[in-house]
Formats: sequence, C-alpha cells, structure tokens
Amino acid sequence: MSIRKVVKYGTPSLREPSKEVHKVSQKIKVLVEDLLDTMYAQNGVGLAAPQVGENLRIFVIDVSTGDQPLNPMVFINPKIIKKSGAVISHEGCLSFPEAFTDVKRYANVMVKAMDRNGRSFVLEAKDGTLLARCIQHEFDHLNGVLFIDHVINRFDAESELSKNNLPPLEVDKILDEPELEPEIQRLLEERVKQEKSEENNG
Ligand code: NI
Repeated sequence: MSIRKVVKYGTPSLREPSKEVHKVSQKIKVLVEDLLDTMYAQNGVGLAAPQVGENLRIFVIDVSTGDQPLNPMVFINPKIIKKSGAVISHEGCLSFPEAFTDVKRYANVMVKAMDRNGRSFVLEAKDGTLLARCIQHEFDHLNGVLFIDHVINRFDAESELSKNNLPPLEVDKILDEPELEPEIQRLLEERVKQEKSEENNG
C-alpha cells in the first residue's frame, strides 16, 4: 500500500467534521492500510483519516512498544459509549510535529466501532492508559477537535506551537470541560506536592 502525506495544523480540513462510512468497500480497505502504513512510517501511535485529507470516520491505533509484536487496531464509525474519571495526558500529534503539551482526558472510555472487515466490536480502555487517551485523541479528529483544544496550560501550548513554527493556539476552540476540571485540579495539586517533596529530598 502507500504512505500518505500527513496534513499539518492550520489545514482547514483538520477542523471539519468527518462523514460516516456507509460500506467497508475496497476503497475504504485501501485507506485503512494506508493509514496504518503512514502511522508506522511516522512512528505514531494513532492516525485519523482527516489527517491524510480524507474526512471519513476512521482511525487506527497501535500502542505496542519495543519487542512486542505489532498490534494494529482499526476503528470505523466509532462511538464513545461510556466515559469517566480524569487524567492529565502529555500529548503530541502527527499534525503538530515536535509539539507536546499536557491536556485533559477521561481516564476510562468504552468505544463501539467496526473493524476493517466491517464487524462491530466494543472495547474498554481504563486507568488513563495510553490506549484510553489515544482513543479520545483520534476520536476527536473525526469531529474536527484537536488535542490543544483540551489544553491545561495555554502559555505552555502557545510556546510549543511557536517554537515549532506552527500557527498560534485557536483560543476560541478551547473546550470548557467542567466534568474533568475538579479531578484535573486535584491531580495538578498532587503533582506540585510531589515536586516539592522531591526538592526537599534532593
Ligand atoms: Ni492527532
């Protein structure tokens, strides 16, 4: 199959909602293979169709590491049917080369989707694992939402973007997430305490 060009932040199609897949046709299967090839070529853990300029509701993930065998996961027409908890996630995105920042995510998600053969499956990812966070990141792409819309520290995100010659933060797109906020604040306080005690011990 082939490696596609990944579009960068600032490309309007990244902000457009994607369309449902009506049939897992040969053309869709080729797109899925291309998404996987492109993700692996870029050493990514996930890639969504709009990132290669196809506004269709498809994303792929592989969270295997090191010596583990590859574990490609394909999600077509995904729906998040359950979400709970909150976690701070340090994220980047293949459409934002070299830029990373902390964002708010749910800790647990349950997703329903179709695989590359058009078979329906349900998957639960818990405890803020990479898989749980990655599912939310890729799912967002299908709705034109980007990881920076979940940003915790705007100044940090701004500097990451400018350092890497990316367009500025779209402040009007930042999401209000009152259901995540109390737990995120608690986690941030915990982090500060942890850092202080490490300083004292060091
Ligand atoms: Ni991304």
